[in-house]
Amino acid sequence: MIVLGIETSCDETAAAVVTGGRRVLADEILSQLEEHRPFGGIVPEVAARAHLENVDGILARAMDEAGLGFTDLDAVAATGGPGLIGGILVGMMTAKAIAAVSRVPLLAVNHLEGHALSARLVASVEFPYLLLLVSGGHCQLLVVEGVGRYRRLGTTMDDALGEAFDKAAKMMGLEYPGGPAVERAAANGDGGRFALPRPLKGRPGCHFSFSGLKTALRHTINGLPPGRLTGGDIADLAASFQTAAAETLVDRTANAIAEFRRLHPHLHAKGGATLVAAGGVAANRFIGGRLSDLAEKEGLALVTPPPHLCTDNGAMIAWAGIERLKLGPAGAMDGGLDFAPRPRWPLDPDAPPVMGAGVKA
Ligand code: KG4
Ligand code: ZN
Repeated sequence: MIVLGIETSCDETAAAVVTGGRRVLADEILSQLEEHRPFGGIVPEVAARAHLENVDGILARAMDEAGLGFTDLDAVAATGGPGLIGGILVGMMTAKAIAAVSRVPLLAVNHLEGHALSARLVASVEFPYLLLLVSGGHCQLLVVEGVGRYRRLGTTMDDALGEAFDKAAKMMGLEYPGGPAVERAAANGDGGRFALPRPLKGRPGCHFSFSGLKTALRHTINGLPPGRLTGGDIADLAASFQTAAAETLVDRTANAIAEFRRLHPHLHAKGGATLVAAGGVAANRFIGGRLSDLAEKEGLALVTPPPHLCTDNGAMIAWAGIERLKLGPAGAMDGGLDFAPRPRWPLDPDAPPVMGAGVKA
């Protein structure tokens, strides 16, 4: 089974060719860092235009690297949502054209399902598992019961953690994208110098909130002597922010582990429970270390895909398509050539809404 995956829902134009045997034959990506850097964040119109300009070239490179033609494919999978609608339209229209002309099936993949299943592309992770999905647009804890079967335990009531990292970086004068820049700056910093809050820590439940942490960081910066922040200040601010973020994730994930244990007691009894961390923020090594300590304490195996599969990529979209195809008719997804891109597309549509300012799907 060979599937082409196309990802265009945010600021990466990516295409990959993956086999049912977990071989990645090609994995091409073009980040729009330079286009968005002057704005310190992603500008949707700029992103859509860049996808349009780059998608054909990236596709040609991926097919070349794989040494295949479109008619050799068993399917073409493209992100159908959620995300920035302009980019999704570009990717979907391209995929539809390939599918129609080469007569291969089209799969519209939920971007979040791509992140959710990415661990199974690199490791033998059995269902069910607990998933911490932390990216620029999402911060959720879910039980992955199977392909297409997700039970959301918690989500953010305001910002996603990646978004908070990006805003924190901007406040400290670090470059976009903020997550990697904060991680680099924090490496030389003292995470105990500034007392930043750990929102919701110690409270029951698995929801997240990061706007208070962001505001506290702003106040802390404003409280420092006026003028330029020194390199040492920035390192300490970054480390303090990263520590607060990690401790918040650990606290909420610990509650989710308890809930997961209640839902699947047998799994824990025989020591087969797994925690998967996926999404861009899961590429952070400091956070990974804290999650690894938690998993060890709780007796779970921690699986985190390598950094290039944590951040947005085409391979996870191809792989989600393969997981669906492997299920046969049972894995059939909405759509086909008449699929309409979805800016919002929750993994667990039955999850109750959470109270908060800007509730994320
Ligand atoms: O999964 P992703 O590539 O795109 C979305 O689906 O959102 O995640 C991008 C987010 C950005 O906010 C970026 O700052 C963050 O992930 N990120 C990180 C790191 N690498 C990427 N955050 C913290 N530490 C990192 N090393
Ligand atoms: Zn993503």
